[in-house]
Amino acid sequence: MLSNLPRPIVFAHRGSSAHAPENTLSAFNLAIEQGADAIELDTMLSADGQVMVIHDEKLDRIAGIQKEVKNLDLAELKKLDAGKYFNSTYEGERIPTLSEVFEIFNKKIFINIELKNLSSPFDDLPHRVADLVKQFKIEEYIIFSSFNPIALIRIKRHLPHVPIGLLADTGWLGYWARSRIGSIINYDALHPWLGDVTSKLVNNAHQNGKRVHVYTVNNPEDIRRMKAFNVDGFFTDDPLMALQILNRGAS
Ligand code: G3P
Ligand code: CA
Repeated sequence: MLSNLPRPIVFAHRGSSAHAPENTLSAFNLAIEQGADAIELDTMLSADGQVMVIHDEKLDRIAGIQKEVKNLDLAELKKLDAGKYFNSTYEGERIPTLSEVFEIFNKKIFINIELKNLSSPFDDLPHRVADLVKQFKIEEYIIFSSFNPIALIRIKRHLPHVPIGLLADTGWLGYWARSRIGSIINYDALHPWLGDVTSKLVNNAHQNGKRVHVYTVNNPEDIRRMKAFNVDGFFTDDPLMALQILNRGAS
């Protein structure tokens, strides 16, 4: 459960993505080895409805091809190399499915599952993800988040006791999400962009009974500032560095 984790929670953003290719089993393994409190990962559907763990809709940055995740089926996606772009050491790394992640990391670490379906807000992603969480009986190890309020409303219907985090975009878009969307969704945690976080924002959220998990905090000074603001957690590409800054690193 969120409340049993240390404060601030160090979420390894897309796994330990400063040290290994993002959203891969290697990046999640490394995050655990480095002592992260939780991992964050991104999900979207393949052409045949499998829940894939990947951040970009387009595959050019990660796998070097001009196609989109939604247009390839599982078998086609599994042929792609999702590690070589990062470093030749990781050549052969595959895009994982959410099911594979659950099989390997089942109850070993807390997971923030981001529902990435802003461009197809009514697709089956919330339903499919919820089914997997139920199948593995890991409700207590999960928080859902999304920039898509419809996805949050839908997944809450499937799993009412699993916490949800409202991702707020940068600047004015973030302000709109925090004020307007925030007033119609009963979310548990606000996930604001680092550049919008002030002591006042954190205090207001706490007064309203919301946790605050900030993205993406990769700089030691910002980590110290977020701790001073009393945030409940933050996402970082480099959990090893973050834990050292918080004096929680391995001695
Ligand atoms: O959950 C925080 C963060 O992951 C949101 O942004 O683009 O890295 O998915 P992004
Ligand atoms: Ca994410």
